[in-house]
Formats: sequence, structure tokens, C-alpha cells
Amino acid sequence: MNSPSVPFLDLVTPHRQQREELLRVFEQALDTAGFVGGSMVDAFEQEFSRFCGTRDCVGVGSGTDALRFALIAVGVKPGDVVVTVPNTFIATTEAITQAGAIPDFVDVDERTYNMDPDQLLKYLQVQCRVDGTAGRVYNRRLGKPVTAVVPVHLYGQPADMDHILELADRFGLVVVEDACQAHGAEYYSRKEKVWKKAGTMGKAAAFSFYPGKNLGACGEGGAVTTDDDDVAHRVRMLRDHGQAQKYYHDLEGYNGRLDSIQAGILQIKLRHLTAWNQQRRECARRYQELLGSAGPELCLPHEPSWAKAVYHLYVIRVQKRDALQKHLTEAGIGTGIHYPIPLHLQKAYANLGYRKGDFPVCEGAAAAILSLPMYPGLGEEQQVRIAQKVLDFGCANTTSQISASAYA
Ligand SMILES: Cc1ncc(COP(=O)(O)O)c(C=O)c1O
Repeated sequence: MNSPSVPFLDLVTPHRQQREELLRVFEQALDTAGFVGGSMVDAFEQEFSRFCGTRDCVGVGSGTDALRFALIAVGVKPGDVVVTVPNTFIATTEAITQAGAIPDFVDVDERTYNMDPDQLLKYLQVQCRVDGTAGRVYNRRLGKPVTAVVPVHLYGQPADMDHILELADRFGLVVVEDACQAHGAEYYSRKEKVWKKAGTMGKAAAFSFYPGKNLGACGEGGAVTTDDDDVAHRVRMLRDHGQAQKYYHDLEGYNGRLDSIQAGILQIKLRHLTAWNQQRRECARRYQELLGSAGPELCLPHEPSWAKAVYHLYVIRVQKRDALQKHLTEAGIGTGIHYPIPLHLQKAYANLGYRKGDFPVCEGAAAAILSLPMYPGLGEEQQVRIAQKVLDFGCANTTSQISASAYA
């Protein structure tokens, strides 16, 4: 008998389990005709800001909206340079460009795939010049001011924020966190000796509630979190055509509101987020146990002591990545690649003039990373089967066959 397949992501089972509660949200929206804005959006915003630990949260139409609005609201201006990483989803740089700025990149850390603070320092010292009179940093090649940095908490793991914040402070940059994959992830600030949630460390942060995220809507959604009242106010205006009062437009904004049905759904799901994140961490621990004895050709995710990752994705690294992916697909196991082509080498950014070899760590990772199934509800038996297939492929030490009885 063929073994049942393991999907990369299961979005059907959790919604089946919550069906009745979720349907009541639709009924409430139909009964009140409250489709956009209103009490469900207000309630979710309050609960999500409480969850994160920020003064404010503004619900918006998507994670991309959240990033774009956050960048504009913190003061990024057309022609500014905003620094981020090439190993992220294109929405990060789309938001920068759509805010009128120019994206630029620094390479990532070899083990966490997140922004490497040493590379950021090198970028600011070598590729930029400080204009003391203007109190600004200018990119030498572009001749434009560098005004913001966007660290991405990729795969659900926080970037090393102490160092990034220290550099931002030293060089006068604003920090906007891309927390779109990191709902509930935590970072231990060695400077302040306290654990902090993703989305609380920059001037503002962006979250995505795209369905597959750790906190996902049944459609599109996003949010900006911030402790700054002015930033929150500006994001509220930007999401609603630049108006604070109906038909009085202080600026030109966007149609970027969070709809009420999604807010109601997110409010229900938020109550489960901590437990779901815990299940993801448990799945990661089990993968570690099952695959930890494999040979050096298999590299498992690295979680530094200062991070509590929420494993939006579980990303392994292996030289014969494409062959392993094929092997797993043939065994009915879903996988993904996040992301196969670094942003600086995407056709969309050919005009920025980057070349292969510009960000070697990111490029090396892009050729070898593979995301294994990871979601709350992924069963032990399924993980044993996935791990066995990975080890069968040739990622095993001679002694590392899994004893199925250990997980029976
Ligand atoms: C790192 C990152 N940034 C931004 C976004 C954009 O979010 P959305 O798809 O909700 O616009 C995503 C979503 O996939 C993401 O993963």
C-alpha cells in the first residue's frame, strides 16, 4: 500500500476544526452589514497590539500594504535608499520601491539567513559616506541618502536586532521590521536583558495575514504595529485614501483597509496563535531529533540562543537540493524553496545593476535550501516518514537510520 502523501501545508484541517466559529463571523458581518472597518477591525487591532506588546496596531489590506504604509509613515521619501536583504519575498522590495525609494541590499548570515549586522556595518562604512553637516549617510554609487533599514525576520526567526538597532542609531537610520513571517517570534536583547516580540523593536513593523502565515486570514490582510502615535495616525490615513474624516483628504493615500470579516476571523485565530507556534516549535524539535544525526551534507536550521523562532518555515540546506526535492515529491511529500532566486538577480531588478556574486552567502543558500512540511497538526508519523526519506536520499550517516519503534 502506498503511504499517504504529506502536504507542504495543510490549510483545510484547521479551518474544518474552527468552522462553526468562523461562520458566525460571516453571519455577524451579514447581519450588521459591517464589511469594512468598524468594531471587528477595532477589536482585532486592540488584541493584536496586546499580543505583540505595542501601543498601537493598524489593520491594513496586506503585508505589502503594511510595509509600504509603514515606510511612508516613518518618513521615507522618494529618492531615499532603503537597505534590506536579497533573501526575502519580493514584497519587501516592492514596498520600498512603491514608497518611492530605492532598495539596496546587504548579505545575510550564513547560519540564520537573516541580515548580517557585520555586512550592514561594512555597507555603511564602505559604500556610503557620512555628511556631517546634513547629519545623513549617502550611498556613494547612487548619490542618494540612506534613510531606513528593513530587517526581515525570515522563516519566523528574528534578525539580530541589537546590532542592527545600534547601527541604525549610529548612522541615523529608521528601522522598519518586516515581521510578515514572524508572528509571536521572540528576540533576547542582550543589551536590555529582556525578551522582545518581533514587531516591537523598530519604529514600526509590518505583519502579513496571508492564509499560509502563522496567523492567517481567509483572504488578504496585514497590520502595522508601532509605539509611535504619529506613525499610527499616518498609517490610518494612508490606508483610507488619506482621510481622517470622511471626504476630508489631508494627503493622497490608498485603498488599503482590512476588511471586517478578515478581522473577525483573525481575532478568533489569534486566541490559538501561541499554542500553534508552540506546536511548530515542537515539530522543529522533532525534526532536529530525527535528522540531527545525519551527515554534514545536511544542514538543519540554526536557532541562536537569543532567538525563539516560530518556524513559519522549516528550511534545511543540502547540496543536491533539486534531486532531494524530486525524491520527496516522488514519495508524495510536499516541499518549497524560499527563495530560489535572490532579489538582486530577479529580472524585475535588472535595472539596479547587480551581478551574480554580489551577495555570495545569499546566492549559496538560494541554491541549496529546501523547506520541509511545517504546520501545527503535522503528525509524528508524518515527520518520521519525511525524515526517513531525507535520510534514504543519502543524507544519512551509516548509523542514522530512524528506529520507527522510537516513535510508535
Ligand atoms: C517576508 C515577507 N514580506 C512581505 C510579505 C507580503 O505580505 P502579503 O502577501 O500579505 O502582502 C510577505 C508575504 O508573503 C513576506 O513573506
